[in-house]
Amino acid sequence: MHKFDFKNRTAVITGGAQGFGLDIAKRFLESGARVFIWDVDDKLLKSVINEIKNPNLEFNVVDVANYKEVEKYVSKIIDKTNIDILINNAGLTGPTGPLWKYDVDTWNNIVQVNLMGTFNCCRAIVPNMIKFNYGRIVNIASVAGKDGNANASAYSSAKAGAIGLTKALGKELADKDIAVNAVTPAGAKTRILDQMSKEHVQRMLSKVPRGRFLEIHELTSLVCWLSSEENSFSTAAIFDISGGRSTY
Ligand SMILES: NC(=O)c1ccc[n+]([C@@H]2O[C@H](COP(=O)([O-])OP(=O)(O)OC[C@H]3O[C@@H](n4cnc5c(N)ncnc54)[C@H](O)[C@@H]3O)[C@@H](O)[C@H]2O)c1
Repeated sequence: MHKFDFKNRTAVITGGAQGFGLDIAKRFLESGARVFIWDVDDKLLKSVINEIKNPNLEFNVVDVANYKEVEKYVSKIIDKTNIDILINNAGLTGPTGPLWKYDVDTWNNIVQVNLMGTFNCCRAIVPNMIKFNYGRIVNIASVAGKDGNANASAYSSAKAGAIGLTKALGKELADKDIAVNAVTPAGAKTRILDQMSKEHVQRMLSKVPRGRFLEIHELTSLVCWLSSEENSFSTAAIFDISGGRSTY
């Protein structure tokens, strides 16, 4: 597998206790980075740290929807080192169902985690990147944010918001060596799929011309390049990884 040079780089990966985030964390560690995983699942985080046992890996229980908490953990890290890479990956789809029957608090929470969580982490970390004139931010959006998936209005809206945020922030930082990009994956077999009905997942899969789920490592490869120094020009861009589903 192609190796990236992340030596002397520090990365924060949100929602990294499993799925995409954990795989990205493992590739970053193999490539020499120091990695901070933030997640709300304390039990999973502990099992991950026992499994990986790498001195360059630290984890914290951080709810990305809570700005004060995010700010607190950012200050703890920047007391020790600057933050070079931020992967805004924490997310949830919530249950599937029509908008007019959707529970209001659940709708709000999906937006809080997927969109506000991305804003909170960028808000707290970007000043540190500006100070050192270096940063790579990758926001894990979704093809749902481009197409709008029926029965997933909160998730589609939040991911569309993350796409808009990426385009705006990327332009704000374009005169610095800071890149802000997003990826829009199609369905991959992670635990997030358990939140949606089987019919919904099958419908998503039926729209993918490749005719299969995205493999987790395929997403990781793209995120690694976007997070590396080699990506010195692309910013404010949305990278499709939908197996041919998206037409723009
Ligand atoms: N798997 C897919 O099919 C798919 C497709 C497109 C986009 N995505 C996106 O990829 C990202 C990763 O998803 P995944 O498939 O690995 O799912 P996952 O459920 O395996 O992992 C998501 C992680 O986020 C954590 N999390 C949830 N709320 C949080 C919060 N408030 N603060 C911190 N951590 C929190 C969870 O505990 C979990 O460990 C998500 O943003 C998701 O929307 C996934």
